[in-house]
Amino acid sequence: MSNVVVVGTQWGDEGKGKVVDLLSAQVTKVVRFQGGNNAGHTLVVDGKKSIFHVIPSGIFHPDTRCLIGNGVVVDPEVFLEEIKGLFDKGIAINPKRLGVSGRAHLIMPYHKAIDIAREKAKGASRIGTTGRGIGPCYEDKVARAGIRVIDLTDPDILKQKIKANLKEKNFYLANLFGAEPLEYQPIVERYLSIAHELSPFIADVSTELDEAIRRNESILFEGAQGTQLDIDHGTYPYVTSSNPVAANACIGAGIGPKSLDSIVGIVKAYTTRVGAGPFVTELVDETGNYLQEKGQEFGATTGRPRRCGWLDLVVVRYSARINGLTHLAITKLDILTGLDPVNLCVGYEYKGKRLENIPAQLSILDKCSPVYDAMDGWQEDISGARTFKDLPNNAQAYVKRIEDFVDVPVSIISVGSGRNETIVRKNPFDTIP
Ligand code: GDP
Ligand code: IMO
Ligand code: MG
Repeated sequence: MSNVVVVGTQWGDEGKGKVVDLLSAQVTKVVRFQGGNNAGHTLVVDGKKSIFHVIPSGIFHPDTRCLIGNGVVVDPEVFLEEIKGLFDKGIAINPKRLGVSGRAHLIMPYHKAIDIAREKAKGASRIGTTGRGIGPCYEDKVARAGIRVIDLTDPDILKQKIKANLKEKNFYLANLFGAEPLEYQPIVERYLSIAHELSPFIADVSTELDEAIRRNESILFEGAQGTQLDIDHGTYPYVTSSNPVAANACIGAGIGPKSLDSIVGIVKAYTTRVGAGPFVTELVDETGNYLQEKGQEFGATTGRPRRCGWLDLVVVRYSARINGLTHLAITKLDILTGLDPVNLCVGYEYKGKRLENIPAQLSILDKCSPVYDAMDGWQEDISGARTFKDLPNNAQAYVKRIEDFVDVPVSIISVGSGRNETIVRKNPFDTIP
């Protein structure tokens, strides 16, 4: 029995949802530990596509309990909409199957209003946020002004906190951005009605996980976003407002660091990024368009086109270090079929000098150019491959080059969006060597 964390190694959208769904069959609990509905995790099961923003990607496994940890910021409207969406698909979600930590923070209407007003005011220098209120909600958490899920259970506390927050937020919205202030009464009424529906799902996530660990059960921790979007380790300030890295699975779910056994880094076979910020291997040419069209690279949350480029191994190696990766899972290898050569970025060049690592100074990173290893491509359709040997030699060589450079074994290779379109070389739950 072991506990596995799944994290994104790039700028999000690596295919975490697909891999979490696949691995969920082996656990009793799947836990989201950070981020909010800025995430969009896509699952394709029996040919049917579903996108989850806040509910964990294990939800299609009837015997697996899905939990939302204290580190997540929860938009209660989205939470309830996703439950309704599942109901419409014939899946009735009850509090046995889904729980949310009372310590998680609630996204409020003023968080969204501030996010949107701020981005608008920034103009060309905007971050390109999802506009879901993520940053402002985490700001309130750190400022000790946030409203938590548990506050939904006490109408007086809820009202008092909404009132105090609105006073400050309306002043800020109106005076700095010239935006419309928000009214107190409709927010209170809406959140009291939400409280009624959401309260049965409130759970003591940390205690539950502790009990599961003591029973020797396996747990899967589902990361959102990716390492380059991490507030500490990403391309700051073009990042999100949480820590998507593996260490935060402990803080965001409420368990100790010794409980983690394997860390799986999801690596898209090329690179994509939504929103602004540096992107060394970005392709603004025909190949970039090819990747975008063939890979259907449009945001699962906002529908925005994703910027595309070659796989940046400097980024993936950095992720291996920051997350302590024990396994890599390469996704969307099928999308590279037909390209020749297939480039792998193995270093950066800045003012004629070779850099082996990502510089902290963004003005330097912005001016870095990629150093490529040109790998031979392959033409064969690989979507039917189910073992490593089924892959053409050049695809095998591409995977091996990644493995060698990053120095972490590639345990999973995904060759299509479907759950079964996967090669599993080593099961991350098998921790016995
Ligand atoms: P996440 O945010 O990391 O869960 O990733 P997204 O769901 O935002 O984006 C990944 C997209 O790639 C989704 O549309 C998946 O269905 C799709 N996908 C995942 N793995 C593969 C794969 O191996 N091949 C192909 N063609 N699509 C994949
Ligand atoms: P998943 O979990 C890709 C990006 C936004 C923006 C920046 C800050 O699906 O991989 P925010 O709304 O978080 O303040 O926006 O982070 N971003 C993502 N990009 N995938 C995601 O999640 C993302 N979540 C946030 O586009 O650049
Ligand atoms: Mg996504």
